[in-house]
Amino acid sequence: MFLHIVCLLSLAVALPSNVATSPKPGCESTCGNLQVPYPFGIGIGSNCSMSSDFDIYCNTTDNPPRAYLTRAASPFEVLKISETNIYVKNWRQQQIVACYASREYFSLEIDYFANSPYTLSDANQFTVFGCDDLAIGQHLSSDSNYSAYGAGTSCAPYCESREVSGGTGSCPGNGCCQTSISKGKKFMMTRLINMERNWQRRKLFSCSFLSLGMMNITGFTFRLSDLNDSTFLNKYPAFTDIPLVLDWRIGSQNCSEMLSSSSYACKENSYCDDSLAGVRGYNCRCMKGYEGTPYLSPGCH
Ligand SMILES: *[C@@H]1O[C@H](CO)[C@@H](O)[C@H](O)[C@H]1NC(C)=O
Ligand SMILES: *[C@@H]1O[C@H](CO)[C@@H](O)[C@H](O)[C@H]1NC(C)=O
Ligand SMILES: *[C@@H]1O[C@H](CO)[C@@H](O)[C@H](O)[C@H]1NC(C)=O
Ligand SMILES: *[C@@H]1O[C@H](CO)[C@@H](O)[C@H](O)[C@H]1NC(C)=O
Ligand SMILES: *[C@@H]1O[C@H](CO)[C@@H](O)[C@H](O)[C@H]1NC(C)=O
Ligand SMILES: *[C@@H]1O[C@H](CO)[C@@H](O)[C@H](O)[C@H]1NC(C)=O
Repeated sequence: MFLHIVCLLSLAVALPSNVATSPKPGCESTCGNLQVPYPFGIGIGSNCSMSSDFDIYCNTTDNPPRAYLTRAASPFEVLKISETNIYVKNWRQQQIVACYASREYFSLEIDYFANSPYTLSDANQFTVFGCDDLAIGQHLSSDSNYSAYGAGTSCAPYCESREVSGGTGSCPGNGCCQTSISKGKKFMMTRLINMERNWQRRKLFSCSFLSLGMMNITGFTFRLSDLNDSTFLNKYPAFTDIPLVLDWRIGSQNCSEMLSSSSYACKENSYCDDSLAGVRGYNCRCMKGYEGTPYLSPGCH
């Protein structure tokens, strides 16, 4: 029981608080507890968003209503929208419990952000619980080309035997590793590979766990023997709520290209921000001392 309490406390990552922003006039501003500021809008094809990429489906059958980003085949629930980020979750897209048995690897593909205004944020990490695995993450930058592999990252969890460790794992450390992912990528393919043979030690536990998202594991401890259980996520239900953080932007050109364009979207008292080099699009931000919705006239005040 103690271990589970530690788990819940240390996983809680505070999402940023709301800023005063508005929806398009005549459109709903909230879905349940979620504030939906323009360029996002509630409703599919309701003309409340800037483009269908920013349509939010609000399921009012749920109580409280829940919001979903619908462009994905398997929709992500939307937890929070901020000036440049959107926090979403869909644990089936973000987690693998890998019980290898006769398989040597498991793959997880987050590949739903092609031709979209969204890229993975570097606020995410991938985190792996295991004793003899290699986890690799391959980023793909291109919108349409799966063979153009970009940068990669990896980590390898390892654990001491029960006799040495008392059977307790810790993060990062005994039986757990975590690695950051780089900003600006649309795809991520992660793979968990069984390293039992390479490390010439009999497998201590049959399963391993990989999670992609923003996860605070500082001080986290767990029972290594839970890795023998294919229903691992039932023991750690908080893991199914880990947010995936996306950066969002509008348009397909950057600020220097937009400033002279008639479709430049930043309204009064706002400025254009394209701080993320190499990614198409830009954000409008209120000037210092101003607040509001920079994408809607009369802009920030
Ligand atoms: C992570 O969790 C630790 C322990 O609960 C806490 O002290 C720290 O502030 C948290 N960090 C973040 C970024 O939430
Ligand atoms: C959508 O809204 C814009 C104003 O933001 C308006 O010009 C346009 O006619 C609307 N389109 C539809 C189909 O309602
Ligand atoms: C809306 O939520 C209800 C209750 O959770 C669910 O049964 C229904 O399938 C959802 N509707 C859609 C279109 O996803
Ligand atoms: C995809 O990328 C590969 C490697 O960079 C290149 O050889 C190929 O021509 C590209 N294909 C398309 C359709 O762009
Ligand atoms: C975990 O499973 C392995 C293989 O099935 C078994 O040898 C081992 O005793 C189990 N460990 C625990 C702590 O249950
Ligand atoms: C903006 O786009 C132009 C034209 O593609 C390019 O030359 C320039 O380097 C870009 N600027 C940034 C900050 O990405």
